[in-house]
Amino acid sequence: MGRIAAPAARVRTPGSERPRRLRRTAALRSLVKGTRLSAGQFVMPLFVVSGRDRSEPIGSLPGHARLSADRAVAKARELAQLGVGGVLLFGIPDHKDDEGSGAADPGGPVPTALRALREAGLPLVLAADVCLCEYTSHGHCGVIADGEVDNDATLPLLAEAAVVYAGAGADIVGPSGMMDGQVAAIREALDGGGHTGTAIMAYASKAASAFYSPFREAAGSAPAFGDRRGYQMDYSNAREAMREMELDVREGADILMVKPALTSLDLLVRASKRFDLPLAAYHVSGEVAMLEAAAERGWLDRKAAGLEVLTAIVRAGADIVITYLAADAARWLQEDSAR
Ligand code: PBG
Repeated sequence: MGRIAAPAARVRTPGSERPRRLRRTAALRSLVKGTRLSAGQFVMPLFVVSGRDRSEPIGSLPGHARLSADRAVAKARELAQLGVGGVLLFGIPDHKDDEGSGAADPGGPVPTALRALREAGLPLVLAADVCLCEYTSHGHCGVIADGEVDNDATLPLLAEAAVVYAGAGADIVGPSGMMDGQVAAIREALDGGGHTGTAIMAYASKAASAFYSPFREAAGSAPAFGDRRGYQMDYSNAREAMREMELDVREGADILMVKPALTSLDLLVRASKRFDLPLAAYHVSGEVAMLEAAAERGWLDRKAAGLEVLTAIVRAGADIVITYLAADAARWLQEDSAR
């Protein structure tokens, strides 16, 4: 009688491992995909201006424009149709002054656009950036005293702007000025103003970066003197980035943001392990500008490179990606799922 021999224990040597088994077909690759993007996690930055029917193209951000409120609503409608998660508003005022007083003007471009967007009733999260740099004549993110940005004199101005945006319908306010204590000051003012339900997405770790220049062209917010290294972080410092995030958690942030995205992937990995808040990454203007410039020359495939970059940002730990590619990426995902 034949006996079935017990199978010999198989020694798996490195040479006999075959990871390629799971790469054989598109269906297998899809089954084992470790990071999936969805349109709902993308947030589109929108630049808003006063007036009606205005759309002024931004040279260094192809496909993007400064929009009046009515045009912003039309754009938002498109984004909602694509399933994009939200919009992040930046205002460009008609007049700038030393104190950036336009930031808290209830008739300014951001509150006006927020009211129009609210009225449109779209299934989009409405977020508003809170900073003075677009509103100050000198382009710095706070008021100047003795040639420096005065942290504590800036806080009430940021808080005031945040309350105005909340009143105009913002779901989320995003303080981006890197002033110490800005999250606490804004939380307190929001609560005091009855806006307990308005969330704060803190630009917690925001580096002084060369990658913001297209944005500054769009917003006319390049500093007239000096630079932002006295308040934005040194990109060399990972532990300081963690400390900034820790502080914003304690001050009451609801979402932590890391910026720029590609130069901070390590910070995203660390932050997603350490904090239990949703984590956002801002794929900034200069990062997309590199891609656009190379694609325009035929040096990179825009879609393939774009999806690869966004996937890396999410793989590193971002739940939310603020990106100028939001609409295109949503379309790319639709195309790929239709195949
Ligand atoms: C305002 C602000 C900036 C960006 C977001 N909020 C500019 C800056 O800090 O100079 C940059 C965003 C981008 O480059 O896309 N403080």
